[in-house]
Amino acid sequence: NKLEMELEAIEKGGYEHFMLKEINEQPRSIADCMRGRLDAKNGRLVLGGLRDYMNKFQNADRIIITACGTSWHAGLVAEYLFEEFARIPVEVEYASEFRYRNPVISDKDFVIAISQSGETADTLAAIELAKSKGATIFGVCNVVGSSIARATHAGCYTHAGPEIGVASTKAFTAQISVLTMMALMLGYQRGTLTESKYIQLLNELEGIPSKVEKALTMNNNIEKIAAIYKDSRNFLYLGRGYNFPVALEGALKLKEISYIHAEGYPAAEMKHGPIALIDEEMPVVFIATKDTSYEKVVSNIQEVKARKGKIIAVVTEGDIVVRGMADHVLEIPETAEAFVPLLSVIPLQQLSYHIAVMRGCNVDQPRNLAKSVTVE
Ligand code: G6P
Repeated sequence: NKLEMELEAIEKGGYEHFMLKEINEQPRSIADCMRGRLDAKNGRLVLGGLRDYMNKFQNADRIIITACGTSWHAGLVAEYLFEEFARIPVEVEYASEFRYRNPVISDKDFVIAISQSGETADTLAAIELAKSKGATIFGVCNVVGSSIARATHAGCYTHAGPEIGVASTKAFTAQISVLTMMALMLGYQRGTLTESKYIQLLNELEGIPSKVEKALTMNNNIEKIAAIYKDSRNFLYLGRGYNFPVALEGALKLKEISYIHAEGYPAAEMKHGPIALIDEEMPVVFIATKDTSYEKVVSNIQEVKARKGKIIAVVTEGDIVVRGMADHVLEIPETAEAFVPLLSVIPLQQLSYHIAVMRGCNVDQPRNLAKSVTVE
């Protein structure tokens, strides 16, 4: 009815879709997530939910992360973060697999369950299983008071605000923000991260919301690229290191809302399969930011180019090498390597959004998908 439609229009805050609103909200949602927790000027980082469990966390033999969908991708980013900064081995598990394979878990394990809704049935079951084996369970949820938030021993809310679009965007970057803060705290406490490096990273993290704001300004370019490739039947997304999970997330976003088949791969694995698919019809999205694997990704780009694939590259501001090779480049601001996913995922969210809109898809409520999957 008319009143409902008007209410919805108000909730969308002038945007055509919730997803677009949520993409654009990210500078604020990330800042909200860090508010009261991160104070770089005074070298302080406080996560209230972790206080009573810091000892367990610091002395864990292993960190096990369990989640589904986009939240699982955030978990993959966290694997790189925890291993780099805190030097604790990490395993990232699909909750649906973990719960049924009689996993080896002990009371020395620290389990992190990630869930936007806090209601995903498989994640909840994985938590109950790990709990029964004596592990400490920590939740990273968005919805306050949700089932997962209540089932865990402790946790940290992402404070991204309500996410209405079925395809997760701002919840993902908020999850990564929480996990980044956890990894920095852990690394500092364990002494695997020096004080000076810690302070430097805290300052960089505090500046992320304004860099996200800047990344969002690629929107008009992205709309043009979307118009060129909207009728493609397949897409490939490639990235390495911290950007490998981002490649998976970019491909998932496109599949979810535009119904175009897309695959994310670690760039170097391309030669073990996906390279066979490359021809002039195949757009390949590279995340080729200036980091430790940059040179390697550049040579992967050359391999795709030699096979006439169309290249869309997400690059660090000012990059001229990739610009000379790619069909299209999308610039994001420079940041610490570990924080790049918070920026590199932005243009991929926008690309999937515009392609879906141009294809006439129901962006906020894609067919066959649910916002939260409360059954197996
Ligand atoms: C569904 C949603 C996804 C989400 C996944 C996990 O598939 O459509 O957007 O990533 O569930 O949901 P959760 O609420 O546990 O993060």
